Amino acid sequence: MQMLLLLPGDGIGPEVCAEVRRVAAALTPDIVIDEAIYGGASFDAHGTPLTDDVLARALSSTAVLLGAVGGPQWANAPRALRPEAGLLKLRKEMQVFANLRPALCFDALADASSLKREVVAGLDIMIVRELTGGVYFGEPRGIETLADGQQRGFDTQVYTTGEIERVARVAFELARGRSNRVTSAEKSNVMESGVLWKQVVTALHARDYTDVQLDHMLADNAAMQIVRAPTQFDVLLTDNLFGDILSDAAAQATGSLGMLPSAALGEAGKPGLYEPIHGSAPDIAGKGVANPLAAILSFEMALRWSFGRADTADRLFAAVTRALDGGALTRDIGGTHSTTAMGDAVIAALG
Ligand code: IPM
Ligand code: MG
Repeated sequence: MQMLLLLPGDGIGPEVCAEVRRVAAALTPDIVIDEAIYGGASFDAHGTPLTDDVLARALSSTAVLLGAVGGPQWANAPRALRPEAGLLKLRKEMQVFANLRPALCFDALADASSLKREVVAGLDIMIVRELTGGVYFGEPRGIETLADGQQRGFDTQVYTTGEIERVARVAFELARGRSNRVTSAEKSNVMESGVLWKQVVTALHARDYTDVQLDHMLADNAAMQIVRAPTQFDVLLTDNLFGDILSDAAAQATGSLGMLPSAALGEAGKPGLYEPIHGSAPDIAGKGVANPLAAILSFEMALRWSFGRADTADRLFAAVTRALDGGALTRDIGGTHSTTAMGDAVIAALG
């Protein structure tokens, strides 16, 4: 039995996940959908953003799909119990080390980008972000008080050969199914972990992937190139922190953060974790205007990468494209469709 665990979470999460439920009911009625409390909502109900029970259900599902986490009302919760901590714990416990963040510009949306149409038309980047290592999890970390009364905050950026190699392998494999190019971004000019990153990617390439074109780019230059000439990239491989930043920049280039899905994958056969890139958007939560496409496209990625249903995924992707081409647009992409009207348009376009 294939099972999708929905964790709607906070803010607009429940609204966009409701549309995933409707799409799944129409498209894949045989997939069992379970749902659980998570994030700030779970903190309020259980004093923790991720209970052991929900984590166990996540680990035994086929795939997990998140809505969004966090909001201003939890800004003062202890850091270890904040909604974001629940997300990091879920990524770590599920061991989903490779985060696929496609930045794709749908033709109907090229004018919604803050960049010129000619710069973003045809944009199709796959960012592969390392997700369970680096400065997000490195020890030691903390804030300490010095003898002179000042405080000192510190984090540790750390990567092992194995951590770099396994995510780089995912990037090279993906490139083979696309335009066969990988750009690896780090800061090897100032960071030891960046030097190692570059060495390991270079060695893996020489060993197993000489058929793929590999380029190295400093991460700051990559940020600049994403807003200058984003279509030069095919697969962009980078670490956890740089990937966080570069994926927001690439997302905006496509027109709206409300459009972009993501997939976090671990070893083959383990459940994947799928989430829209957008946050909880507290300013529009509960108003029925959020764009559900990032969540719906996250389900599309789940069909492809966890449920082994590439054909069904293709069908859903085509329906989203048709809905957009037919003028179904939510507020963030220049239209007036409500969240449910957008869900209706996708379902109607399934044909
Ligand atoms: C993301 C988010 C998260 C991250 C936050 C919410 C912890 O920004 O998924 O990009 O930094 O990874
Ligand atoms: Mg981010």
